[in-house]
Amino acid sequence: MPHLFEPLALCSVTLPNRIVVSPMCQYSAVDGLATDWHHVHLGRYATAGLGLIFTEATHVSAVGRITPACLGLYTDAHEAALARIVRLIKATGNAAVGIQIAHAGRKASMQPPWKGVGKRAEGAEGWISVGPSAVAFDDGWQIPRALDEAGMATIVREFAIAATRSARAGFDVCEVHSAHGYLMHEFLSPISNKRNDAYGGALENRMRFPLGIVEAVRAVWPKDRVLAVRVSATDYMDGEGWSLDDTIAFAHELKARGVDIIDVSGGGSSPKQKIDLKPGYQVPLAEAIKRATGVPTIAVGLITRPEQADAIVREGRADAVALARALLHDPFWAWRAADALGADVAVPNQYLRGRKLAV
Ligand SMILES: Cc1cc2nc3c(=O)[nH]c(=O)nc-3n(C[C@H](O)[C@H](O)[C@H](O)COP(=O)(O)O)c2cc1C
Repeated sequence: MPHLFEPLALCSVTLPNRIVVSPMCQYSAVDGLATDWHHVHLGRYATAGLGLIFTEATHVSAVGRITPACLGLYTDAHEAALARIVRLIKATGNAAVGIQIAHAGRKASMQPPWKGVGKRAEGAEGWISVGPSAVAFDDGWQIPRALDEAGMATIVREFAIAATRSARAGFDVCEVHSAHGYLMHEFLSPISNKRNDAYGGALENRMRFPLGIVEAVRAVWPKDRVLAVRVSATDYMDGEGWSLDDTIAFAHELKARGVDIIDVSGGGSSPKQKIDLKPGYQVPLAEAIKRATGVPTIAVGLITRPEQADAIVREGRADAVALARALLHDPFWAWRAADALGADVAVPNQYLRGRKLAV
């Protein structure tokens, strides 16, 4: 059995294989509520023999949304809409279902990318963003309001409430989004965190608020379900900013707080980042974190070929692989991978005739 198709047991959750649908914003929500689009988008993955299906970044408050069209989880109606999606996926296939809970910090209140990358939400559509410091991401971006301790305590509570709602909605995995230059990563990185109180300066201080969020989520998220954290393992800023060594220190702290798996991404702190984009470009980061801490990891970033994905798992470089763009292109990528690797994949009865079709 190729390792890509071996189940992965984490807590009392077993992923039927190691192929993960990476979180992907759809900018198709209305007032934070999931719409028909989400049913189509996530529903097609539900039929496709994948191991774990993540929702897109789902925000813990209205202010924390990246755009006005992003998903939220801060009212009963949001919870009910997401519970419906969990039911839909679980009724269709055997994939585990994960939610990514998030706060966009200084990168909130933007337009969906197809209305202009880096364009602010205008007029009544937009709102004032918050961050560790009153420093904009880039020229033309909003200068956020620097959070005080009361504001930070509110956000910690919002994450805990969103995690409670996620558990009630039936998710198997809760991933806390601490990557891509959004709020938690903004506190971690000296590029965005210019504070001189207990939450800025030394690494220990910069980790304090993100770790407080993880502790609050862990306290309410069921012990038998999987707690994940997505990190940016580096700012890709040539010796400046947040580094892999910092991430390893952070990962040790996450492990001590009961995090079950780390989803290893990168970048997002600065428009000046320099990423050497090539197949599997972030796999060495996932591997380094796994080796240094013993915490299971998910690798992500230009993993597109079945043999490549299988080798990552087989060589113990990561415990699972997340795919984003390749799964937009081909939701049935796992069928193709099963064919290439000679593995079995779960197929709904309704689709059996399509699976066996000789072409
Ligand atoms: C359309 C789209 C939306 C994305 N939205 C999110 C998101 O909500 N949360 C997140 O952590 N990453 C998001 N990402 C990043 C992906 O999860 C993934 O890490 C990245 O695309 C690299 O993987 P890939 O090379 O397989 O596409 C998004 C990527 C795409 C293409």
